[in-house]
Amino acid sequence: MSAVTRAHEPWDLSRDPPHRPRDSGKFPRDARRGLRHNLAMPAEIIDGTAIAEEVHRETAARVTALKARGIQPAVTFVRVGEDPASRAYVSRKHKKAEELGIRSDTIVLDEKTPEAELLALIARLNADPAIHGILIQAPLPSHIREQTVFATVAPHKDVDGFHPVNVGKLLLGDDSGFRPCTPAGVHHLMIRSGVETRGAEVAIVGRGNIVGKPMAAILLQKAPHCDATITLLHSRSRDIPAHTRRADILIAALGKAHFVTADMVKPGACVIDVGVNRVADPASPRGYRLTGDVDFEKVRAVAGKITPNPGGVGPMTIAMLMANTARAAAMAHP
Ligand code: GUN
Repeated sequence: MSAVTRAHEPWDLSRDPPHRPRDSGKFPRDARRGLRHNLAMPAEIIDGTAIAEEVHRETAARVTALKARGIQPAVTFVRVGEDPASRAYVSRKHKKAEELGIRSDTIVLDEKTPEAELLALIARLNADPAIHGILIQAPLPSHIREQTVFATVAPHKDVDGFHPVNVGKLLLGDDSGFRPCTPAGVHHLMIRSGVETRGAEVAIVGRGNIVGKPMAAILLQKAPHCDATITLLHSRSRDIPAHTRRADILIAALGKAHFVTADMVKPGACVIDVGVNRVADPASPRGYRLTGDVDFEKVRAVAGKITPNPGGVGPMTIAMLMANTARAAAMAHP
């Protein structure tokens, strides 16, 4: 395919995204940062559902092109036990894969499955040429070593981006690996909504392996849409608000409901809420509701751009997983 007709691929950051950043045009913008001037207005919403749909359309086109070459992209999900949140996540991923024309299988193992049995299953999936992507849903039961499991998935099928080889490639700035889906999704939300990262002060709250650490690794690369100055904050950090108040971009990924309050946010900053927290809600039939790490309504009055939650980062995680799967299939058939 020529450079002109080639579909944009979400992992290809050397080119601008196919759609111009969403901009309602309502706010005059700071040309350098993409931040609004009129602080009397509430923050612009970064619509993760709509941006994820854009990525899905690109992935669907990729899947169609692969099928035209006789290649059926396929992903296998493995869930161990009946954790309700994991059940919901895996079923959502399975459904979206099928919608996009990706063959999807879900294997459910008993909570008490020995680690060796899970590793043997992964070895069989690694050896099956008809399977391009493998995802082992975390968290795993406590008798299973998560890092051992992630390191057993073949790196070229590791659509989660958790294998040490892919983690290392990300840190080294080697684009041939897979990036973890949630931080990759956050990155695309920023790219596609016109948030300038070059030279920006970014505060990430949370240093987990799934979001905080890889998020830092992505944004500090010497590359288009990266080049940020990163502060990675965690439970032992002193005076977190002093750091977050300096940030042009604030990413909350610590898993504490409404941890980020309005006084922690620099006026006009971009605020990304990765958190998924259960809070008791007697009014809900389930007895709880899901909420993010950011006190949305109050922070919205201060921020320049903000992700809603739900409807911000969550849909992007699935979008990047599907994009990674289509890419794994393409890489298997160069
Ligand atoms: N649990 C929470 N997030 C994730 C994810 O991105 N991948 C896997 N495998 N498990 C998770």
